[in-house]
Amino acid sequence: MRRVQVAIVGAGPAGLLLAHLLRRAGVEAVVLEARSRAYLETSPHRIRAGVLEWGTKEIALRAGVGERMLQEGLEHRGVYLAFHGEALHLDFLALSGKTIWVYGQQYLVRDMIRHHLEAGGEILFEHEVVGLEGLEEAPVLLYRTPEGREGRLASEFVVGADGSHSLARQHLPGARVQQKTYPFAWLGILAETPPAAEELIYASHPRGFALFSMRSPTLSRNYLQVRPDEKLEAWPEERIWEELNWRLEGVAEVKPGPLLEKSLTPMRSLVVEPMQYGRFFLVGDAAHVVPPTGAKGMNLAFCDVAVLCRALLAYYQEGDSSLLNRYTQDALRHVWQAELFSYWMTTLLHTLEDPFEEALRQAKLRHLRESPHLQRFLAENYVGLYTSGRYADTLLHV
Ligand code: PHB
Repeated sequence: MRRVQVAIVGAGPAGLLLAHLLRRAGVEAVVLEARSRAYLETSPHRIRAGVLEWGTKEIALRAGVGERMLQEGLEHRGVYLAFHGEALHLDFLALSGKTIWVYGQQYLVRDMIRHHLEAGGEILFEHEVVGLEGLEEAPVLLYRTPEGREGRLASEFVVGADGSHSLARQHLPGARVQQKTYPFAWLGILAETPPAAEELIYASHPRGFALFSMRSPTLSRNYLQVRPDEKLEAWPEERIWEELNWRLEGVAEVKPGPLLEKSLTPMRSLVVEPMQYGRFFLVGDAAHVVPPTGAKGMNLAFCDVAVLCRALLAYYQEGDSSLLNRYTQDALRHVWQAELFSYWMTTLLHTLEDPFEEALRQAKLRHLRESPHLQRFLAENYVGLYTSGRYADTLLHV
C-alpha cells in the first residue's frame, strides 16, 4: 500500500491551499477529489461567492497563487447597504484601513489547481473517497478510481476538506454538530450585464433582501431572498429582473441580460466541535458552514488552513505536536467570530416573519445608519477581523 505524509480529501479552496503550502515546505501531500478537473473549473453549479477578505488576498499572494487575482480581480474599498429607500456607503478603507477583493472562488480554485500541478503537486481527480480508517493512529483512505477499482492510501495525517456535505465529517468520533437553519433561501443568478453599481449593494427591502454583486465589469452576480421551499420554475427571467429592481427601488437599476446560471442556495449555520481526532483534521466547510450574507465561507477555509499548516509544519520541522493538539481551540476563535458576523448580517438584512423580530431589525438598521461604531464593527468583520491584531501572526505566517 502506498504511504504519504498527508492525505487530503477534497480539491476545493481549503484542500488545494493546504496541499500547495505543504508541498512548498517539502511535506508530501496527495489530494483526492471525487469530481473531474473540468467539473471543478467550469461547471456552472460551482459558481460560489466571490469576496476575498484582505487577509485571504494576502494568503493567496504569499502562497504564490494570487497573481491572476491581482490582474483580473476587482479591489473594492467598501460596500453599499440600501434600506429605507436610501443607500449607506460603508467605506472599509476609512473604517478599518483595509480593502476587499472581488474574484470568484471558482477562479481561485482554477488558479490553485494550475499552480499546484505545475509545481509537481499531485491531485487525484475522479478518485472518490469511500472510507476512512485508523484515524487515531495509522490512517488509511479507501477510494474508488475512475475505472471503478478500489484503492487504499496510508498516511501520517488525513485532512477532511470535502465541503459542506462532507463524508469525512461523519467519520469524526465524538463530533458535536451545532446548527441553525434560516426560514429563507437565496435565488442566485449570473448574468451578462453590468453590475448595478461599482461596489456590492446589500439591499434590505420590505419585499425581501437582495444582493447585487459581480464577477467583472460586464458580469453580474445577483441574489434574491426567497422562501426556503421555493421552486426555480416559479422564477422565469422576467420575474427575477422585475423583483431585483423592486428591491433596488430608489437606489439603482439593473438592466436585464442573458442568464448564464440560476440556482437556489439554502441558508444555514453549522459548526462541528471538535475539528480533530487523532491524526485526522477537518478544514473549511467540512467543519463549518455559514450563510453567504457575510461572504465568509472561503475566507474561513483559508484561516483554518493557515492555522493547520503552521501546526503540521511545527510537527514536521521541529517535532512539536503542541499546535496540532490545540488546532480546534485555535481555529474555533475565527470560526465563531465568522459565525457571529454571518448570523448578524443575515438577521440584519433579511425580512423576518415574526413582527417583533422584524421591528427589532428595523431598529438595528436605524442604529447602523447613525452609529460610526456599528459601521466599524461591520467593516472590520467584513475585511477580516482575525488578520488584524494579535491573531494575525497565526494566519499570515504563510
Ligand atoms: C457573490 O459575489 O457571489 C457574493 C458576494 C457577497 C456575498 C455573497 C455572495 O455576501
